[in-house]
Amino acid sequence: MMTITLTNRDNARYKVMCRRSLLDELLDHGVDLPYGCRYGGCITCAAKLIEGTIDQSAQVALNNRQIDNGYIILCVVGAKTDCSIDIGMESHDLLYRNPFLEPLAPQDLRADVGAPKEA
Ligand code: FES
Repeated sequence: MMTITLTNRDNARYKVMCRRSLLDELLDHGVDLPYGCRYGGCITCAAKLIEGTIDQSAQVALNNRQIDNGYIILCVVGAKTDCSIDIGMESHDLLYRNPFLEPLAPQDLRADVGAPKEA
């Protein structure tokens, strides 16, 4: 069992079993969270990891810039350690960018995005 601290919610703490996504576990505790697709496609549920380690191997929606800024996708991640996270839309300050003002550099893209599938 891990402890999740919501740093932008007065450091509220929740125990999670780590058998389901952090989104499902926190919703079960009554935490009000934004979400949409619930399969890692829309990034509505993005949160910012402040401290701790998560298993994010199932997420495919974030690019390297977003990952480097600490973003995680709550609907497809599980906690590997106790974690502190910022949740909700106010944590999305670095999530989106204007592509005309800040074009992505090649290293910002995931290496596998747009790569043709091998037959
Ligand atoms: S709810 Fe769509 S990515 Fe999590």
